[in-house]
Amino acid sequence: MSVEVGQQLELTIDGFAAGGLGVAHHGGRAIFVPQTIPQETVVARITHLGRKKISAELVEIIEPSADRVTPVCPVFERCGGCQLLHVDYQAQLGLKKIILTDALRSIAGLDYEPELKIVPAAARLAYRNRGQYPVARKGSKVVTGFFAARSHKVIAVDKCHIHDQRVDQAVGCIRAWAGRKRVTVYDEKRQRGFLRHAVVRVTDKPDQVLVALVGKDDRAGSYGDLIRRLRRQLPQLRGLVLNINPQRTNVILGKRMRVLWGQPDIDEHIDGLRFRLSLGSFFQVNTAQAGELFKKVRKFLKNTSGPLVDAFCGVGVMASLLAKDGHETIGIEVAESAVADARQTLKFNQLSGVTFHQGRVEQVLPKLIKDGLEPGGLVLDPPRKGCAAEVLQAVAQSKTEKIAYVSCHPGSLARDLARLFELGFELETLEGVDMFPQTAHLEVFAGLVRR
Ligand SMILES: C[S@@+](CC[C@H](N)C(=O)[O-])C[C@H]1O[C@@H](n2cnc3c(N)ncnc32)[C@H](O)[C@@H]1O
Repeated sequence: MSVEVGQQLELTIDGFAAGGLGVAHHGGRAIFVPQTIPQETVVARITHLGRKKISAELVEIIEPSADRVTPVCPVFERCGGCQLLHVDYQAQLGLKKIILTDALRSIAGLDYEPELKIVPAAARLAYRNRGQYPVARKGSKVVTGFFAARSHKVIAVDKCHIHDQRVDQAVGCIRAWAGRKRVTVYDEKRQRGFLRHAVVRVTDKPDQVLVALVGKDDRAGSYGDLIRRLRRQLPQLRGLVLNINPQRTNVILGKRMRVLWGQPDIDEHIDGLRFRLSLGSFFQVNTAQAGELFKKVRKFLKNTSGPLVDAFCGVGVMASLLAKDGHETIGIEVAESAVADARQTLKFNQLSGVTFHQGRVEQVLPKLIKDGLEPGGLVLDPPRKGCAAEVLQAVAQSKTEKIAYVSCHPGSLARDLARLFELGFELETLEGVDMFPQTAHLEVFAGLVRR
């Protein structure tokens, strides 16, 4: 049965897919409808007809699910940031299990449904320790917010419910300053104007805030008013920096930075260790849940003998915690600022037995193994796209008995698990940690051992 763009259909949602989309079937084809929940009957309007995928938008809910709740955020329907604010929290975990088990079944041939556990988050709102808000102008007003799903249209948001409230406070100061000082806003089509993004990073222990303006150029503006506003509202302000990004790109931060006030970094404490975090270095966005994840990795690698490799190590949190547990560790990370932070962390904590290599895991790991490194265990925590084939090949050629694979993307995790099975490993444990409540994302820990 054919359908066309603009057509409205009554559909029963019978599945759930990556990206937080309800799935309905019509005439033998799957139709993906955001903001719906399995078992609901809805009216949806077709928005896109692809060869593989039909997309639709929700028009009306005829039969709501018992798991439907009223979203706490007034812009939920337009903003692309959270996908599950309309779902009760326990049911959110059930939907994430569906996304993960479907990926494992269809890509890795694994049937994991009954045993799969997900560690729930205690804080379901206000958990994000980092915010990066695009800046736009609406009429005479400077606004900050989020890009609407699949677009570069900024939806103005003054309060984002999943961010720590210090993030919104800092961004509010930037909006007020930019409006008052008539700061020009970057227009990506014409590549004109100055202010592109407001970026804020916060820590709890100690209570610190780092604020960055991302501008198109190194403009010698008048920042005194902004510094005063920020210090008045956020006495825990540690620094304000100007990050300069002249490129036509979706990457938020540029390579150059100028400190406008204070320090260009903040500190976080995890399990008694002090970590240095600069603006551009990766750090898990949910500190409390990251702690749960790190505990799982440490427990899994506890009785391993021989050095441990922390590949894709970021600021070296795992490598440092494993060193604290008495292991010799080797961290590998491509980002220069993260490696500098990791080395500073070693000094803060007087940790020995840890070495960091700056470079791509694809190049560094095979070389270390060729040069004789025999790791007892490895942590693999790659970005969303997962591990390159040469990384998994090098892991298999090493003597490692254990792999602690940490993933933020069920699809690439499933693909890499399938490859690791072929290379002689098997799963000992698989658990989720809900690092991103209200969104369709999930962090997963997979413990593998050599067969
Ligand atoms: C998901 S983060 C994990 C960071 C760290 N394990 C943690 O939990 O804080 C992935 C990290 O890998 C780094 N990265 C991305 N591609 C890389 C590559 N090919 N080689 C080395 N590091 C890479 C990123 O800069 C980022 O710090």
